[in-house]
Amino acid sequence: MADNILDRFDAIIEDDKKVSDGKKVRIGLIGTGWICEAHILNYQKFDDVEIVACADLVPGKAEAFCKKFGIEGAKCYLSHKEMLDDESLQLDGVSICTYNCTHAECAIYALNKGVNVMLEKPMCVTLEEGIEIMKAEKASGKIITIGFQPRLDPNMQMIKKIVDSGVLGKIYYIQTGGGRRRGIPTPYGTTFIEKETGGIGALGDIGCYSLDMVLNAIGYPKPLTVTGYKSDFFGKRPDYYPGHPEYAEKFGVDDFAAGFIRLEDDIILDFRIAWAMNINTPGDTIILGTEGGLRIPSTDCWNGSVGGPMTLYRELCGVQTDTEIPIIPFNGDRFELKLRSFVDAIKEGGTAPVPTSQIIINQAILDGICKSAECGHELEITIPEV
Ligand SMILES: NC(=O)c1ccc[n+]([C@@H]2O[C@H](COP(=O)([O-])OP(=O)(O)OC[C@H]3O[C@@H](n4cnc5c(N)ncnc54)[C@H](O)[C@@H]3O)[C@@H](O)[C@H]2O)c1
Repeated sequence: MADNILDRFDAIIEDDKKVSDGKKVRIGLIGTGWICEAHILNYQKFDDVEIVACADLVPGKAEAFCKKFGIEGAKCYLSHKEMLDDESLQLDGVSICTYNCTHAECAIYALNKGVNVMLEKPMCVTLEEGIEIMKAEKASGKIITIGFQPRLDPNMQMIKKIVDSGVLGKIYYIQTGGGRRRGIPTPYGTTFIEKETGGIGALGDIGCYSLDMVLNAIGYPKPLTVTGYKSDFFGKRPDYYPGHPEYAEKFGVDDFAAGFIRLEDDIILDFRIAWAMNINTPGDTIILGTEGGLRIPSTDCWNGSVGGPMTLYRELCGVQTDTEIPIIPFNGDRFELKLRSFVDAIKEGGTAPVPTSQIIINQAILDGICKSAECGHELEITIPEV
């Protein structure tokens, strides 16, 4: 099943996607806010990339960004449309670093213009938006990759290697999630917490990562049903935001969400995520299989890695054994690797490093949790074919 999903768009790879040898890859940045700084700083490490344009809805923001990062030669625009309509730019790719609610419109517009896309996580807000993105992707034949840099951490990759080795046997239950004791992301303003910009809260912001950690490891099986819950007890408290009690009024998303999801192949996924909670951790990630179990310690804040050595539990010749899997030291930069993989895929006419065919499943679960929480009962999850 997983192979099928991964290969779905192989047939539409075309030679004209390639950037010819010696030519710099021309990149535009859409949404010059906080995370865009990580994009520019890493693109600037690459000799074969040129940042030719920046766009932001806030007047003057793109210009200030270009000045800060010494790319005054880049052209500035007041929206993704203005930038993508300027054909003189001859863009090979864009990084979409806008808040969640404009991910879909920016990605679809770029693909329709024949431009490759690096789209920040979460893919979008709803499953319906995700399907529209995939339709545009299919029609364009271009690459769209979703920004899940934790996958490039060797400790994360170890989880998948352990699963793929078969040592766990048939997997039947997964508990995952995590979060922060106090960590609603407002230090840079309110775009994460307002319904009109963030769209979804902890669920989309960090929930998508912890789902990706386990679903990528087990080959992204399809979700069948979901019972979801979400709440906003902390986000709605004026005293949560010293100096900014008005943020409580603006808070329109979830600060905690949970879901009980039935996946195909008879696997249960028990998930919870928090931006704020009255406990240090809602628990480690555990993967239970018929031959072994894996414990992945949670981090304090879901920082994209594992919180300590993992433990593999097995019965060996009738004896219960625990094997510690040491943390693999990693001095690389996951963000740099994420952008490099996008640029390489453009240059080589390759496939998307983190394909929508996988992440649509992640999105369907986020969407299912929201919709089930809103209607108060279990829902079936159906992902339309694209
Ligand atoms: N991969 C990661 O590690 C990581 C970390 C943080 C944030 N993110 C993701 O990056 C995205 C942005 O987060 P942020 O913290 O930078 O937000 P931000 O609010 O600081 O920046 C978003 C910017 O996008 C601009 N914008 C919105 N729609 C636009 C449009 N149509 N055209 C041009 N500009 C537009 C806004 O004006 C704003 O300046 C979010 O989806 C978030 O989940 C990813």
